[in-house]
Amino acid sequence: MSVTEREQSVVGDFAAVPIDSVREFWNGRPCNIRHSPKPIGTREYFDEVEARKYFVEPHIPSFADFPRWKELRVLEIGCGIGTAMVSFLREGARVTAVDLSSESLALARRRAEVYGFADRVTFFEANAEQLSDVVPPEPYDLVYSFGVLHHTPHPLKAIDQIRSFVSPGSTIKLMMYHTRSWKVFWAVLRYGGGRFWDWRRIIARHSEAQTGCPVTYTYTKRELTQILEARGFHVTDIFADHIFQYRIPDYIEYRYRKVWYFRWMPRPMLRWLERTFGWHLCVTAVAREAQPQQTNPEEPSIDSRRQGLLERARTLAQFSDIRPYPGWHFDIDWSAPGEALRERRDIWESFRSAGTCGPVEVEWLNGIRLILYVGNDLSKQLFVAGCFEPNEFAFLNGVLAPGMRFVDAGANEGIYSLFAASRVGQTGRVYSFEPSPREIERLKNNLSLNNFPQLQIFPFALSDENGFSSFSIAEDEHSGVNRFGAPPPGVKMIHSVNVPTWRLDDVAEQEGWDRVDVLKIDVEGAENRLIEGAAHILRTMRPLILFECSASALEGSGSSREELLEKLRSFDYVIYCFDESTGLLVPASPAEYGENMIAAPVERPLLASQ
Ligand SMILES: C[S@@+](CC[C@H](N)C(=O)[O-])C[C@H]1O[C@@H](n2cnc3c(N)ncnc32)[C@H](O)[C@@H]1O
Repeated sequence: MSVTEREQSVVGDFAAVPIDSVREFWNGRPCNIRHSPKPIGTREYFDEVEARKYFVEPHIPSFADFPRWKELRVLEIGCGIGTAMVSFLREGARVTAVDLSSESLALARRRAEVYGFADRVTFFEANAEQLSDVVPPEPYDLVYSFGVLHHTPHPLKAIDQIRSFVSPGSTIKLMMYHTRSWKVFWAVLRYGGGRFWDWRRIIARHSEAQTGCPVTYTYTKRELTQILEARGFHVTDIFADHIFQYRIPDYIEYRYRKVWYFRWMPRPMLRWLERTFGWHLCVTAVAREAQPQQTNPEEPSIDSRRQGLLERARTLAQFSDIRPYPGWHFDIDWSAPGEALRERRDIWESFRSAGTCGPVEVEWLNGIRLILYVGNDLSKQLFVAGCFEPNEFAFLNGVLAPGMRFVDAGANEGIYSLFAASRVGQTGRVYSFEPSPREIERLKNNLSLNNFPQLQIFPFALSDENGFSSFSIAEDEHSGVNRFGAPPPGVKMIHSVNVPTWRLDDVAEQEGWDRVDVLKIDVEGAENRLIEGAAHILRTMRPLILFECSASALEGSGSSREELLEKLRSFDYVIYCFDESTGLLVPASPAEYGENMIAAPVERPLLASQ
């Protein structure tokens, strides 16, 4: 089935419903308007609406990740009476809130005033399917739409419209209803007399608290992923959640008594059920550089060619054992002989030249599951050549042990963090710091593939002061070089975001850390500033430090190798680098500097003679 055919099958029967019926329905009863019995429009009313919403749908705050959008621009499509809108505003975002229903918007406006946020939000009454006719097209950091687009007669038109409000690297977060859900099963049994073939009509009638919602589409994970990927979005996360568990007669009286079988169901089973058959399909995607165009319908679709290549890539992935690699440098194996390597190189090149990256899930070292984005620099090494920074990984393999505390500053997609988590085990801790929204999504995705409760993500940059700073997001191919300031020569910056910055010493104090054993720093030239902000940790916890020492990156941020090494020495650290001929550690000297180096406290030297 082609993408278009598949899309037709999910366009379904509601395309002929007039938008006026949809507007009338939501004007008649704005969504969640009865979430509180208090006088509508008062602060107590809005407080209660919010409390009930997040009590019944507790997955929303972590999905929306409200604090992440502080000081950033959020477009909310279908804001309803403004529950999420207020959460974004409270965290400091600037919001453009849109809804089709004037009655809902009136309450959302009132809500912004009641909480004193009116100066940071702009409202538009608009149809998501023709958004750019009303809302000025400009890029937003986040386009958020929760429980909306499945209620519009032409959801695909609305998704097409979103492209006018993103730039490459922008995030979109949508919640659409899930076909393979408990809710569909339950509604068909309860209201449809078991007529499963008629489920679309039954669910449309009974999807909402009030019956008669004119349009309700549902999607499978696969359908939604394909719809977004075909429109120039790269899906980074998609999950199901939410099964409504309360007895309705109690619920409408504001009492929360669960239906008997949910009361008795063990919590792990309930969570499994929600994550498998939940009603809310929550998808996060990042806007890609270029939108793929389908030209000749006779040819295999771009989508299926891409899928075929990704499938082949998965079977071809192969990784070297953990061992030193004398003289290793980036690209060293690019022209190496071998049929499999040639094929991996061709696949990588076809993604790179198309300006996209293809996600391939693989099993890497120590049983770690990882998504590689074929077409970017990391996959050029890890997927094509089978190893990345092998000397660093061999070193870490030797020093990390169960129970240790590892800090990963500049975690990117998370390969160091995941590797460290596999070595320190569940008695240890891994703290991963990454400010780039695209890379945070990838890191989260990779974490979700592994059972590593010991790994904690901190979505911000480390520096010498707490605040905000402009951060350049590099094109996807070179996603490892995101940084403060301008990207290196030859790399395009696609986007600049304002990111929170923290001093590592302050994070340690707030989090109550009493130890850091290994600190890995790869922050594209900001190493000096990071160390300034970690002075107390260096003095008191004396971690081993694995750090990037790139002359060009340091100079690009007004520093230098000498300054960085001098600073580390001033904390009584000895510096080592990887020997070109053995890949093992040797004391650093101006003649033997490396792009990656190690600093060890003088009282615990790494080589016997010191
Ligand atoms: C179920 S409510 C969700 C409201 C809000 N997102 C929330 O989570 O509380 C659906 C909302 O989508 C709005 N809506 C439906 N179709 C729309 C369209 N084509 N354009 C804009 N808004 C639309 C409705 O007016 C309604 O407020």
